[in-house]
Amino acid sequence: TNRTFTMIKPDAVRNGHIGAILEQINAAGFRIVAMKYTRLSQEKAGAFYAVHRGRPFYDELVDFMSSGPIVAAILEKENAVADFRTLIGATNPEEAAEGTIRAKYATSIGENAVHGSDSDENADIEGSFHFAGTEIFA
Ligand code: GTP
Ligand code: MG
Repeated sequence: TNRTFTMIKPDAVRNGHIGAILEQINAAGFRIVAMKYTRLSQEKAGAFYAVHRGRPFYDELVDFMSSGPIVAAILEKENAVADFRTLIGATNPEEAAEGTIRAKYATSIGENAVHGSDSDENADIEGSFHFAGTEIFA
C-alpha cells in the first residue's frame, strides 16, 4: 500500500463536481487518509508548481490554481501514484481516455479538474506541503 496526493482544482469546485469526483475516487479503491477544503495564495500555488517555473503556462497555472477554493487530499491504495494517474487521464482532456475524471470534468488543458502526483517521492513532498502529520489518519 502506498500514497498519492490530489487536488480537486478550482474549475471542478466551481462547476459543482466535488461529490462526483470523490465518489469516483472511492469507487476505484482509494482510501482518503487526509483531506481539506482550502484556497491557495498566489505564493503557495507558485511554490507548489515551482518545477514548472519558466514554462509558458506557469503564470496562467498559478493564477488559475489560486483563483478559488480547492479540495486537497492524500489517498492510499496499492500502486497509488500510477493507478491514480490512470483514473484521472491525460493532462489534456481531449486526449484523456473515456470515463476518466478529466474526460468527464475537465474543460481545457489548463483547467483540467484534478491534480495527481507523478512519483512516490513527489507524492510525499506534495502531501507534506499541505498536511501536518497530525492531520493524516491511516
Ligand atoms: P498535474 O496533475 O496538475 O501535475 O498535471 P499533469 O501532471 O498531468 O501535467 P503537468 O505536471 O505537466 O502540468 C501541470 C499542470 O499545468 C497541468 O495539470 C495543467 O493544469 C497545466 N498545464 C500543463 N500544460 C499546459 C499547457 O500547455 N497550457 C496550460 N494553460 N496549462 C498547462
Ligand atoms: Mg504533474
